Amino acid sequence: MTTIVKIFVPKDAAALAVGADAVANTIQAEADRRGINIELVRNGSRGLLWLETLAEVETPQGRVAFGPVEADDVAGLFDAGWHLGQRDHALCHGLTEDIPYLKNQQRLTFARVGITDPLSLSDYQAHGGFEGLKRAITMTPAEIVEEVTQSGLRGRGGAAFPTGIKWKTVLNTPADQKYIACNADEGDSGTFSDRMIMEGDPYTLIEGMTIAGLAVGATRGYIYLRSEYPHAAAALNSAIDNARAVGWLGHDIGGSGRHFDLEVRIGAGAYICGEETSMLESLEGKRGLVRAKPPLPAIKGLFGKPTVINNVISLATVPIILAKGANYYRDFGMGRSMGTLPFQLAGNLKQGGLVERAFGITLRELLYDFGGGSASGRPLKAVQVGGPLGAYLPESQWDVPLDYEAYIGISAMVGHGGLVAFDDTANMSQLAEYAMEFCAVESCGKCTPCRIGAVRGTEVIQKIRANHQREQQVHLLRDLCDTMLGGSLCALGGMTPYPVLSALNHFPEDFGLDATAPANP
Ligand SMILES: Cc1cc2nc3c(=O)[nH]c(=O)nc-3n(C[C@H](O)[C@H](O)[C@H](O)COP(=O)(O)O)c2cc1C
Ligand code: SF4
Repeated sequence: MTTIVKIFVPKDAAALAVGADAVANTIQAEADRRGINIELVRNGSRGLLWLETLAEVETPQGRVAFGPVEADDVAGLFDAGWHLGQRDHALCHGLTEDIPYLKNQQRLTFARVGITDPLSLSDYQAHGGFEGLKRAITMTPAEIVEEVTQSGLRGRGGAAFPTGIKWKTVLNTPADQKYIACNADEGDSGTFSDRMIMEGDPYTLIEGMTIAGLAVGATRGYIYLRSEYPHAAAALNSAIDNARAVGWLGHDIGGSGRHFDLEVRIGAGAYICGEETSMLESLEGKRGLVRAKPPLPAIKGLFGKPTVINNVISLATVPIILAKGANYYRDFGMGRSMGTLPFQLAGNLKQGGLVERAFGITLRELLYDFGGGSASGRPLKAVQVGGPLGAYLPESQWDVPLDYEAYIGISAMVGHGGLVAFDDTANMSQLAEYAMEFCAVESCGKCTPCRIGAVRGTEVIQKIRANHQREQQVHLLRDLCDTMLGGSLCALGGMTPYPVLSALNHFPEDFGLDATAPANP
């Protein structure tokens, strides 16, 4: 009997960007040339992005990791006997599961990513897939909503609103049609967890949306996906077709007699289209323009019907909550921040990637224990947490636990869990100017504090940087930030002051100000 060697090469966009397809093709060609029988699986990424392309070989002890592999390394790997379980190669990292970056994580939402073949339904089910949906089918809508409420799950898209409470509003709003709209616009700088799970474990999102549909009485779902994610679109569309073909979507979900179906809609390409009411406008085929609230989308949302709007990670976390129970999930985390968050490490870090951990971990642990410090070798200076509207945190705040409330306490936000690190060459006044300019460019234009304020704010910061009436302009900038914070219709204008003021308060010297003066006069 010939032994078949199972080799895994990610098909994730981050791996493709550094040549994973060439690696996979070369492995197949080299194996054929040598008469070695292999099964090549194109898995999702393990999230150790600095090691991509991370190829793994299955052995009786577990998978052995090799990376970063380039096509030119492949012949040498076969020469060294990687297919026979030999580890004596410079690119070998031993058993994948023992790599500290992975071993020290708590993967709940990402439990299957990198492990299964993303489009294999049998692989999905062999690793716990559809267990949550099977249980949901046996429950009443109110029981499902209660389970999600009890888990403590809060929206992972940025606002951290309790998911169960949102679902309850939709459940209790009578209507002939309700919708589930998944926000997959993932516009925040330094974030990629939505993309990774849609490419690496698409069925979990489909399962989560179906459970949401059963919970609130919605029969139709849409995934609003940014146009920059073609690989995620392909994975989702194939997964939807496969799930429908075997009855996990469509007219008789899992033999329950209940109906739910969904489709992918490609976004129009603006940051503001990630804001939920703008997203609804865009889904309806209009320009992405923020709607005034009330009415809440949960009452009058897509096409005027009650709509659950949730981020990809929120929905992809629902299956494990239903499968293992609310108490299992809420045991992770701290305070009112329950469960885990897939943090995304980006910017000037040696080891960028995805780290899923319970709330309560600190930035310092993420930056050094996982991130390995700066890629440049220079001291780290600031970290922007939570996307372009998040504050810049100086080292004095890196020991604050990552918890929604603790971060609000330091005028920062956890948001979607993206971290962008900067070393000591970063000029924080330049980054503050960039934050205002970003707001000016991306503003939907509906309200004055944002539309006009961001343009004036950019000019004011330019004057401060050029030392043109500096003290007066700083005063003006603080005043303007107050107006934007209090008077904007949505968080784009309302939170742009976070990066601006944090840069000004924590790094006054970069604005040419006296660093010994009180931070916020
Ligand atoms: C300017 C702006 C951009 C946003 N972009 C996104 C996004 O790309 N993805 C996302 O899930 N939420 C985004 N949000 C948050 C959404 O408005 C909304 O709170 C979220 O989709 C709700 O889902 P959740 O409760 O599961 O987090 C954005 C908000 C604002 C103000
Ligand atoms: S704050 Fe900006 S993006 Fe939001 S509604 Fe006002 S103009 Fe539009």
